[in-house]
Amino acid sequence: MKIAIINGPNLNLLGKRETGIYGNMPFEAYFNELQKKYPAVNLHYYQSNVEGELVNELQRLGYEYDGIILNPAAYTHTSVAIGDAIAAIQTPVVEVHISNVHAREDFRKLSHVSGKSVGSIFGLGLQGYELALQYLLSGAVLKVPV
Ligand code: DQA
Repeated sequence: MKIAIINGPNLNLLGKRETGIYGNMPFEAYFNELQKKYPAVNLHYYQSNVEGELVNELQRLGYEYDGIILNPAAYTHTSVAIGDAIAAIQTPVVEVHISNVHAREDFRKLSHVSGKSVGSIFGLGLQGYELALQYLLSGAVLKVPV
């Protein structure tokens, strides 16, 4: 199984960014733990602060990977292009947010990604990524019609 995690802008600062909301752990440390816990899974990690690069990575992986776990960060709320990329590719995408976006500012309640994804996880901290991984590994994925 080839599963990718794609993180959007400012998530390279996890561990030192607004730790009261996002926690103390750098994502690379969490990703290393995941790789150790799931040695049979070919796990790929990509992070960019640039919208077009996230679209490029979705397109690059989206006909080859078995699943993509995507946290588009702030682009969730603004990017029609990322939503369109998810709709365009074949690989199922699970949307993940570390924080509970529905318990924060109103602008975070809009997602251009949720309606194109097979499902969304928010508010469960970094554990959301592992839960998304377990879902993709379970084989229960249905590609939603868009
Ligand atoms: C986030 C939530 C977004 O609203 C925010 O812009 C982020 C992180 C999360 O993981 O909780 O950068 O996607």
